[in-house]
Order: sequence, then structure tokens, then C-alpha cells
Amino acid sequence: MASVTLSGVTKIYPGGFRAVSRVDLDVADGEFVVFVGPSGCGKSTTLRMIAGLESATEGSIAIGGRIVNDVEPRDRNIAMVFQSYALYPHMTVRDNLAFGLKLRKEPRADIERKVAQAARTLDIGELLDRKPAALSGGQRQRVALGRALVRDPAVFLFDEPLSNLDAKMRVQMRAEISRLHQRLGATMIYVTHDQTEAMTMGQRLVVMHQGEVQQVDAPLALYERPANLFVGGFIGSPAMNFLDGRIVRRDGLRFVTDGPQRLSAPLPADWRPRGAPVETLLDRPLTLGIRPEHVRLREAGAADAFPAVVQLVEPLGNETLLYFTVAGRMFVVRSPGGVEAGVDRQVGLALAGERAHFFDPETGRSLTV
Ligand SMILES: Nc1ncnc2c1ncn2[C@@H]1O[C@H](COP(=O)(O)OP(=O)(O)OP(=O)(O)O)[C@@H](O)[C@H]1O
Ligand SMILES: [Mg+2]
Repeated sequence: MASVTLSGVTKIYPGGFRAVSRVDLDVADGEFVVFVGPSGCGKSTTLRMIAGLESATEGSIAIGGRIVNDVEPRDRNIAMVFQSYALYPHMTVRDNLAFGLKLRKEPRADIERKVAQAARTLDIGELLDRKPAALSGGQRQRVALGRALVRDPAVFLFDEPLSNLDAKMRVQMRAEISRLHQRLGATMIYVTHDQTEAMTMGQRLVVMHQGEVQQVDAPLALYERPANLFVGGFIGSPAMNFLDGRIVRRDGLRFVTDGPQRLSAPLPADWRPRGAPVETLLDRPLTLGIRPEHVRLREAGAADAFPAVVQLVEPLGNETLLYFTVAGRMFVVRSPGGVEAGVDRQVGLALAGERAHFFDPETGRSLTV
């Protein structure tokens, strides 16, 4: 097992495209860290630089305290699992598992023991004599995982390993990889664009956007204290609602927007924003961010609410999502399962002010972290 340290790691591809910019990160020995961000943000490039499949243009990469920038991939003591399982189609599962060890000329008895152990861990003992074509997607992914496991690497690297699986299998394999991490105590770095996967698996998440790290923190800390607009909007589903406006003192505190569809939403009178005294937030341009679960449904005309008309109802059983247009923007509210709210109904929406986030619209930075 080993720590992984990135210092100022940058990738500029031939042709000049800057895919990854000055990434600094310490992954502790035994930690499970997830890189998450939208397509093209540089997740795979970063992982491939750690693996040695791509060179870093600038900066240093250390594994277990040793700088590995000039070390060949096979000598970095890492194992990588990809989305495409990359199994050898003409070999049985057993031979697929053993292949890397045979290449390393390990003794036959050791190979057999390691293969048997990995098969037990991943519950694929029954499949050892089959070829990949005769396996389901989930089974193939388990074999790919097994191939990493038998190598007993210092660091496991995963690049979207579950995205070929159906939703149910994905949830199951997610739990298996998490269990594997608990059991092995291995250092794992996992890449995904799926924020649910990231939130449920990672001890810490690295949120990336356009080649830059936006925030590094534990899943709930990211949810509760997003450092900027991007993280606020990316973490959480359905996404955080955003409104542009300002806070004024008028019958208590209110968030108001300009424009034709003016909004005036009450904030709690005793509201104390996190991170800044309320005075510093008054009468300046702000972007308010509020999660769908932090808006309460009220009767139309309720004093602590602003009026809105239901446009779309999505009953999901355990919860109901209600869609509105507020100040010209889509606005989603998450309500309890059985809530009765038909389309076109007039309701009141109350912001749970203490859960509201306020961002600087210029820089995107949170003013209430
Ligand atoms: N070999 C290459 N040459 C030039 N540009 C590249 C190369 N590989 C990747 N890129 C670009 O670098 C950026 C980051 O790519 P990367 O594969 O790291 O993204 P990603 O975050 O893994 O995205 P995805 O979720 O789609 O896999 C993208 O804009 C991509 O087009
Ligand atoms: Mg990728």
C-alpha cells in the first residue's frame, strides 16, 4: 500500500490543449479518493498520468514517497481497471486472471493460490473455466477487478469501471468495490462522472472542472459547503436551484430579483449566514443557491413564502418532485411522497434560509462557506 502525491501536475497535449492544470493532491495510504466531474474535465488524463500511461507536462507524481515521473507503468506497482474490461477473449477466466502473473514469471503454485483467492473474494469461482463471451457484463467486470486484485498492487486505479453495467448491477458492484476497499485497506483512486457513485464510494471527492480542481473534501462537506457555483450545481440531484438577485431589508430580510418576473422571497428574520455577517451580503449582486430539499411547500399566500404555480409533477413514490419557473428559471422542489399538488396549482414556496448558499456572481465563489 502507498500514498499518492500530486504536486502542480499539468497536462498539455501535443497541439497545446491544456487538459489538466496544476493539480495538487495528497491521497493517504489506504484512502479511497474519487475524481468526479463532467465529461472532458480531465479525470482520465489525471489518472493516466498517475498510472504512467500519459506523461505529466509539468509537476511531480509520487507513489509511496517515490517520484515516479520517469518510472515505467509496469514498475509503478499500480493496477488499473477500465470501463472496457479489456479481457482476452480467447482465454478462460482463470487464464485471464493468471496472465499478468505468468508474465512476471511467478511460481505456478503462487499463481494458483492468488487466482483462487481472488475468485473467492469476487465470487467468480464457478466461472473460472468460461470464456469472457459467456459472461454477463457484471461478471466480466468482476474478472477485470480480479485481474487487478491478483497483482496485489500498492494503488488501485479505476476509470469509470461500472459505466457499462445496468443500473442495478452498478449499485451492486459499487457496494462490492467499497467492501473490497474496507477488506484490503488499499489505496484506491476512482474516476467517475456520476456524482451519486462518487458520493457513495469516496472517502474524499476531488471535483474537477475544465482541467482544474474545484474542491477536495468529504462527500457531505461538499454537499453542505460547496466552495463555488460549479460544485454547488454539480453535487446533489436534482441540482441546486440558482437565482440571481440581492438581499434587502424590507419587512425583515428578503431575497429579491430584478427583471419582469420579479421575485421577493422572505428570509428568516434571525438568519445568520455562515461565513459572513449578514450586513456584508446586503444590497450587492448575489447568486442564491438552494437545494430542492430545502424549499418548503406552503399554502398560497403564506407569510413566509413567495407565490408560484406548479408546472410539472414527478411522483417517484418515496418523494415527489415539483417543477416551477421562478424569476424566469427552472426551480425544483423536493416534497414528501404522497404530496397532493396538481399542475397549475397556486402554492407558496418557503426557502429554508439557513440552508441557502450565496455566491459571488462574478467569481462564482461562495460567500457563505
Ligand atoms: N490524446 C489527446 N490529445 C488531445 N487532447 C486530448 C487527448 N486525450 C484527451 N484530450 C482532451 O483532454 C480533455 C480531458 O480529457 P479526459 O479524457 O481526461 O476527460 P474525462 O474527464 O476523463 O472525460 P470523460 O468523462 O468523458 O471520460 C478533453 O477535452 C479531451 O478532449
Ligand atoms: Mg474519462
